[in-house]
Amino acid sequence: MFTAFYCKVCPVGESDCLKLQIRMKVFMWATLLFSVRSSNADTGASLDRTSCHNNSCISLIEGEITAEAGLCVVIPCSFSTASDFTAQNLVWFKCEPSKPKSTESHIIFHSNKKNQNVHPEFKQRVSLLEPEISQNNCSIIINDLKESDSGSYWVRVKSSMPGRQSGSQQVTVSVKGLSQKPTVMIPPLTEGHQATLTCTAPGLCSGSVPEITWTWRRAGVNDSHITGNITDFKAENLTVVTQRHSSTLTFDPSPEHHGTEVTCKVRFTGNMTTEETVTLNVSYMKEVKITGKTSVKEGETLNLTCSVESFPPSFVMWTKLSEQNMQNRTEANLQKDTEPQKQTGMAALSISNVTADHSGQYICTAKHLNHTLKKQANVTVTFMRNPSITGNTTVIMGESLNLTCNVQSFPPTIIMWTKPCPTSLHNGTDTDLQTNSGSATLFIPEMTAEHSGMYRCIVKHMDTTLHVLANVTVIWFPKILSSSGCEVQSDVLTCVCISEGLPLPTIKWPLLENHTEYSVTTTVSNHTVNSTIILTVNHVNRSVECVINNKNWEVKQNFAIRKSLPVQQGG
Ligand SMILES: *[C@@H]1O[C@H](CO)[C@@H](O)[C@H](O)[C@H]1NC(C)=O
Ligand SMILES: *[C@@H]1O[C@H](CO)[C@@H](O)[C@H](O)[C@H]1NC(C)=O
Ligand SMILES: *[C@@H]1O[C@H](CO)[C@@H](O)[C@H](O)[C@H]1NC(C)=O
Ligand SMILES: *[C@@H]1O[C@H](CO)[C@@H](O)[C@H](O)[C@H]1NC(C)=O
Ligand SMILES: *[C@@H]1O[C@H](CO)[C@@H](O)[C@H](O)[C@H]1NC(C)=O
Ligand SMILES: *[C@@H]1O[C@H](CO)[C@@H](O)[C@H](O)[C@H]1NC(C)=O
Ligand SMILES: *[C@@H]1O[C@H](CO)[C@@H](O)[C@H](O)[C@H]1NC(C)=O
Ligand SMILES: *[C@@H]1O[C@H](CO)[C@@H](O)[C@H](O)[C@H]1NC(C)=O
Ligand SMILES: *[C@@H]1O[C@H](CO)[C@@H](O)[C@H](O)[C@H]1NC(C)=O
Ligand SMILES: *[C@@H]1O[C@H](CO)[C@@H](O)[C@H](O)[C@H]1NC(C)=O
Ligand SMILES: *[C@@H]1O[C@H](CO)[C@@H](O)[C@H](O)[C@H]1NC(C)=O
Ligand SMILES: *[C@@H]1O[C@H](CO)[C@@H](O)[C@H](O)[C@H]1NC(C)=O
Repeated sequence: MFTAFYCKVCPVGESDCLKLQIRMKVFMWATLLFSVRSSNADTGASLDRTSCHNNSCISLIEGEITAEAGLCVVIPCSFSTASDFTAQNLVWFKCEPSKPKSTESHIIFHSNKKNQNVHPEFKQRVSLLEPEISQNNCSIIINDLKESDSGSYWVRVKSSMPGRQSGSQQVTVSVKGLSQKPTVMIPPLTEGHQATLTCTAPGLCSGSVPEITWTWRRAGVNDSHITGNITDFKAENLTVVTQRHSSTLTFDPSPEHHGTEVTCKVRFTGNMTTEETVTLNVSYMKEVKITGKTSVKEGETLNLTCSVESFPPSFVMWTKLSEQNMQNRTEANLQKDTEPQKQTGMAALSISNVTADHSGQYICTAKHLNHTLKKQANVTVTFMRNPSITGNTTVIMGESLNLTCNVQSFPPTIIMWTKPCPTSLHNGTDTDLQTNSGSATLFIPEMTAEHSGMYRCIVKHMDTTLHVLANVTVIWFPKILSSSGCEVQSDVLTCVCISEGLPLPTIKWPLLENHTEYSVTTTVSNHTVNSTIILTVNHVNRSVECVINNKNWEVKQNFAIRKSLPVQQGG
């Protein structure tokens, strides 16, 4: 603490002191502008130290006034005068610290502006709070403080009568480094709503105008700037000797500004700087995103995640639009009631062993502050039941084949009928591809022998292809052709039985059962079987029976025996 040690000229209080005159107005200044460090700071009124001379008294604060470099200090002071003493000039001195043992002080302020003896260091920096001396207020403000301004100050009140003057005791001012920070005001920041940050310089001084600059730092980026920002400087005159300096930064908050740091730096004369850094919280919400496969196979697990990037985190939930209530859009809440509502910004929809019933429209609702966003997901559960073929695969020749290949599936399957070569199916005439109804009908109006064979129903569902076979059999009832017959020549009986049928008929000759010597010749061409028997007979029957048989039917026919003219043997 500085003491009154250096400078001994300052007069000491004398016996004819007037009563203390406490001017509360002065102390209001003190509390407004700087902090007073004194053992009596709390009691305020007892701070006065009064020195009197010639019935004139000067009251000064007792103790040490602290202030910060770059800012300003007010030294509160009041005086009273005897009735025959008219104050004309106020002169403030600073004790000379470089000559501690001397009695020198230099003038730092003279109320007579013409006085040339004001120390150059203090020119323009000191002014009276109350320019009117008759108000008995000798308080001064010293602006643009430097640490070298620390020291003891005293005041002298001069009267118009030469030689009549009154001096004060000393007051100690201690100037420390600048530690006060600017005040940064941030309104609530919302994406898309222009906002203005305000940075107010510390101290309410009337000295040099401070320089206020803004910098913006994005996480991970050294130097950055808010694009499209507008800054503005403002100086408000609070009183004749106090000013508030502030700067505004106006910009359009966006999600990228969230979490970044904005620094306001204030530079006073003498390169005294102080800064304050604030972190921006911008309320924003990005689009709702749904990830996961919306198409799942029956029995698998549906796993959808709905997320929305926002600040503060949004409340996200899933609902299902039930189909029965499509008109009034009833939504079934999928969140369990017991679950606390967590604002995590995401929600998972997980259904294991899905069935076709789980298909439908699911809605993700994201609530962010008083905004609600929705996004829809159309879930499809794909399935395919085993395909089947209905209809009769055994067809009588000449009649129609009507086979239907059925598949229950979602989405609908592509169903096709094919038959291997040589016969190919004619699109539109032979087949009816009803793929949308989950079935395809193979219709062949008139079956021929060539139509028999393996038909294939091909079912293509998503990435699987299934084949179902139909073994189509064409039945052709056996028939004995009219070119068949028997004739006998001498003792040799020749019978020919020509038959058609599918499957190829077998031909039996019951006559042969009683004979041991005969020849049978069978020739097959296409669907015709030709059986010829030759045998020697003693006694000729009237008819011979041919029995033909194919799995499906048996046909018998008796051939009358024609007698050919016997070949004349030697006569
Ligand atoms: C404001 O914009 C100007 C020019 O675009 C830039 O130089 C300055 O750094 C920006 N200020 C902040 C705080 O981003
Ligand atoms: C503030 O006071 C200064 C002089 O002290 C003057 O030049 C300036 O115009 C005033 N500003 C306002 C806004 O009153
Ligand atoms: C002010 O101080 C900064 C460092 O704090 C220094 O870089 C700069 O040169 C100084 N400017 C002046 C004018 O002294
Ligand atoms: C669902 O998908 C997410 C990622 O998309 C994964 O982390 C999670 O384990 C999955 N849950 C199940 C049950 O498969
Ligand atoms: C609307 O939904 C309610 C159930 O929430 C149901 O009772 C009602 O029938 C529905 N109305 C229509 C037109 O679907
Ligand atoms: C899946 O659901 C079906 C029908 O609902 C059921 O028969 C089957 O056992 C379930 N499988 C598992 C693994 O839960
Ligand atoms: C959201 O709430 C704020 C105040 O909390 C209000 O100013 C704003 O208009 C509201 N927005 C909507 C869309 O309701
Ligand atoms: C879901 O289906 C509805 C009606 O079927 C349709 O209006 C909507 O566009 C679909 N949404 C998506 C994301 O496919
Ligand atoms: C199929 O058709 C054949 C010939 O008409 C008939 O004999 C058979 O009994 C039928 N089969 C069935 C299962 O209807
Ligand atoms: C084929 O058979 C189905 C029944 O199995 C029948 O509904 C359909 O009319 C038949 N088609 C033709 C062309 O006879
Ligand atoms: C059958 O006809 C349909 C439409 O008439 C056509 O889309 C399809 O390609 C045809 N299939 C073949 C094998 O020709
Ligand atoms: C088709 O059916 C016929 C008569 O029923 C049978 O002889 C044939 O072996 C069958 N073909 C196949 C490939 O099963």
